[in-house]
Amino acid sequence: MNELARFVSSLPKAELHLHIEGTFEPELMFEIARRNNIKIPYDSVEQVRDAYRFGNLQDFLDIYYAGANVLQTERDFYDLTRAYLDKAHEQNVVHTEIFFDPQTHTHRGIPFDTVIRGIRAALDDAHNEYGMTSHLIMSFLRHLPEEDAFKTLEQGLRYRDWITAVGLDSSELGNPPSKFRRVFERARAEGFLTVAHAGEEGPAQYVRQALDLLRVSRIDHGNRSLDDEVLTRELVRRQIPLTVCPLSNLKLQVCRDLSKHPVRRMLDMGLLVTVNSDDPAYFGGYVNENYIALIEPLQMSRNELLRLVENSFRAAFLDDNQRQTYLGNLHQAAEHFN
Ligand code: ADE
Ligand code: ZN
Repeated sequence: MNELARFVSSLPKAELHLHIEGTFEPELMFEIARRNNIKIPYDSVEQVRDAYRFGNLQDFLDIYYAGANVLQTERDFYDLTRAYLDKAHEQNVVHTEIFFDPQTHTHRGIPFDTVIRGIRAALDDAHNEYGMTSHLIMSFLRHLPEEDAFKTLEQGLRYRDWITAVGLDSSELGNPPSKFRRVFERARAEGFLTVAHAGEEGPAQYVRQALDLLRVSRIDHGNRSLDDEVLTRELVRRQIPLTVCPLSNLKLQVCRDLSKHPVRRMLDMGLLVTVNSDDPAYFGGYVNENYIALIEPLQMSRNELLRLVENSFRAAFLDDNQRQTYLGNLHQAAEHFN
């Protein structure tokens, strides 16, 4: 590993855009399928990995939802989450904000409680064992009606203390943020923060809607924001974080070549941009690999890498004390790197 790759890997960091269902590695999928007596349409781990070639977001989502079908019990959700947290810890992630998609599971008869209890138990263990802090973001599937999101919100209210924010994911094109204006309004009234995937495949106008109609604290992806100069200036002025996912963009053909990835322009324009892994089991890398992938194609300097990691804490849903502690630890680690 070269010097800059070692540098960025060594730094304590926060991950802010991570779908827990997207951390389902084929090895664990086979193990859980076996113990739950579920047939999966692959003969080997290699065959599964071979199927992970996607032309666009929808190609990926079809495979991602099929994979999630294997998850049935609280223990399954525990094992899934625990495997991600162990990997994140190995990569020096000290704080993580995790999306979960309740509807992916409740729609096939798995109780909301099973999902959230399994995830939460793993978060508690990682906090006790590693000191890792976390937040949960309950994400609504945007290809489903707003009415379904309302039902999901109702279920989430029983776990109000375990859920920090609501989000919006799944098939973006044709499902604008405006479709979810009322349920986000209700979520905010209940005290949840809000985020939304916008401008991944969809237009800059969806980012505008996420800001104005959903009143989001952060934009997930946001690549297409740069198509709109007025919008971009506002994102800079208000320092609205963008949770960007380079390897995801490459694998879903949102971006043909990392040397043209918008994160370079985002940094240069002073946007509060962060680097994240999205669905690491499907896109070939966890958070460190996402930083490393940018170094050569975008000629990232040591200071720019450090800025991206600083941004991960600036953009996190931390209180000011925690944020200052994490930033202090980060600067110490950067100074002492050798
Ligand atoms: N669900 C999981 N990953 C996603 C992504 N990159 N975009 C939209 N929905 C998703
Ligand atoms: Zn995502």
